[in-house]
Amino acid sequence: MIEVQAGCLVGIDAYPVHVEARIGKGLPVFEIVGLPERGVRESRVRVKSALAASGFEIPPRNLVLNLAPGDLRKTGSSYDLAIAMAIMAACDSVQLERVAGTLMIGELALTGELRPVRGVLPQLRSARERGLTRAIIPRGNAAEGALARGLEVYCASHVTEVIEWLSDRDELERVHEREHQHEEGNGDDLGDVRGQAAARRALEIAAAGNHHVLFVGPPGAGKTMLARRLRTILPTPSSMEATEIATIASAAGFDAPGSLKNVTRPFRAPHHTASAAAIIGGGDPVRPGEVTLAHGGVLFLDELPEFRRDVIETLRTTMEQGQVTIARARQRVDMPASPLVVAAMNPCPCGYAGDPERLCSCSPDRVARYRAKVSGPIVDRFDLHVVVRRVPPRALRQSERSEPSRAIRQRVQQTRERMPPPAATLEDHLANVDGHALQLLETAVDRLGISARGYVKCLNVAHTIAALSEEKVVSSAHIAEALQYRALDRSRADLR
Ligand SMILES: Nc1ncnc2c1ncn2[C@@H]1O[C@H](COP(=O)(O)OP(=O)(O)OP(=O)(O)O)[C@@H](O)[C@H]1O
Ligand SMILES: [Mg+2]
Ligand SMILES: [Zn+2]
Repeated sequence: MIEVQAGCLVGIDAYPVHVEARIGKGLPVFEIVGLPERGVRESRVRVKSALAASGFEIPPRNLVLNLAPGDLRKTGSSYDLAIAMAIMAACDSVQLERVAGTLMIGELALTGELRPVRGVLPQLRSARERGLTRAIIPRGNAAEGALARGLEVYCASHVTEVIEWLSDRDELERVHEREHQHEEGNGDDLGDVRGQAAARRALEIAAAGNHHVLFVGPPGAGKTMLARRLRTILPTPSSMEATEIATIASAAGFDAPGSLKNVTRPFRAPHHTASAAAIIGGGDPVRPGEVTLAHGGVLFLDELPEFRRDVIETLRTTMEQGQVTIARARQRVDMPASPLVVAAMNPCPCGYAGDPERLCSCSPDRVARYRAKVSGPIVDRFDLHVVVRRVPPRALRQSERSEPSRAIRQRVQQTRERMPPPAATLEDHLANVDGHALQLLETAVDRLGISARGYVKCLNVAHTIAALSEEKVVSSAHIAEALQYRALDRSRADLR
C-alpha cells in the first residue's frame, strides 16, 4: 500500500491524514474517498492537469485514493501535492523511501505550479509530533516553514521540482529563517498622547498585570488613540509566545514573519457589527475568531455598547477562561484566546454626560438604556475602568510629548519579572496585604456596592500597583488607587 503523509487543518490545529493510492483491476476510474468535500474532490482535475504539465499522464486504470481516517471531513485544496505524489508512487514513478516520513502539502495549479495554503505551521507541528522528519511545502509558505523546529523543511514552487527530488535527480531548497530589522510597529507611540496621565498610568498597570481595561469618555477624548498604543508597551514575546502567535497567524493565512524574532504581538480591532462567529470563532471547518487572532496581544472593542448582545455575552466567558471551545457534531475544537481586552465607550448616547464643559442632551432614561447594554456582568470583567476626559486644545498644544512607549515597556517587563505567579485562591489574593489596606477595601466594597468579582479584581490590581513600585506588601495607597478604577461599579449615573 502506498501512503503519503498530509494533514487537515481544524481551528488552529492540524490532524494527520494519510493519502493511500491503489491501482486495481476494473474499469478505468479516478476516485477520491474518505469524506472529501467538494474542494478536495476537485483535486482530481487539478492533479491530473498538473501532472500532465510536468510530463506525466495518469494511466487509464482503476485508481482509488483514500484519505484516512475516514471519519475526519477533508476540506480545502492542500491535499493536491500528496494526492499527486501518491499516484506517482503507485505507478512506481518515484522512489518510495523518500515518500515515507515526508509531509507533503500544497495546492496545485493546472500548470503544475505549487500554490501556498493556510496553516503550514500547525501542519508542521503536527508532522513533528507524529514522528515525520521532513516536509515539503509551497515556496510561498517558506517564511512560515522557517519558524518550524524539529524537522527538515523544503519548499518548491512547481510539482516538477518535487518529482525530481523524489526521483533523486535534483535537490530541493531548504527553507531558512529570515530576520528583518526590527521596525517599531507602525510608528504608534504612547509618547504621542499628551496629558492624560491617569489613562496612561492605567495602561501601564494593565500591561504589567494583564488586566482588562475599559475607557469611558466623551468623543475626541483620545480613547481610541490610547487603546491602540497599549500594544507598544507590552513586553517582547518569549519564543514560546512567539511560536503560539505565529501558529495562529498561520492558521488564519496571515503573512508570515520569516523568523520567530520578527514576531510581534497582534492588535485586533473588530467592528461592532461583527458576528459571534467572527469574534469567537466558528464556521465549517472551524476557523479562529478575533479573540484567538488577538491571543498574546490586544483585542480592542471600540464602542463596546454597540456590539451585538450575543457577542458581549460570549465575550464574558472567554475573558475569564482564556480559551474558546467550539462544539461540533463530530468533534470539539479548542483554541487559545487570552488577549488583553481594551474596550472604549461613551458615557451616554450623546457622549457628554459628566463633561465639565458641554451639556449632555440625553434623557436619564436614554442614558440608563445605553448603559444597560453593557450589563453589570460584562463591566465586571474589566479590571480597570478609566474615565478619560478631553484635553482642551490649548493644553494639547502647550503640553510636552509624554514618556515614550519604550521606557514604559521596560518598566512593565521588569515588573512582570518581579510579580508572583497569578493568585489562584482567595488566600493567595489576601497574602501580603496589610491590615489597614484590607479594612479600606472592605469599607469601600460595602459602601460602593462592589461585587465579589470586583473585590477580587481590586486586590489583583493592587498587587500589580505594589509590584510596579517595587513593594512587596499591598498598602492602603495601592488599594485606594485600585478602587479608583471601579468607576462603573461606583455609580451608574455620574462618572466622576
Ligand atoms: N491627549 C491627546 N494627545 C494628543 N492628541 C489627542 C489627544 N486627545 C485627542 N487627540 C487627538 O484627537 C483625535 C481623536 O481622538 P480619539 O479618536 O482617540 O477619540 P475617542 O475618545 O476615541 O473619540 P470617540 O468617542 O469619538 O471615538 C486623535 O486622533 C488625536 O489626534
Ligand atoms: Mg474612538
Ligand atoms: Zn448624553
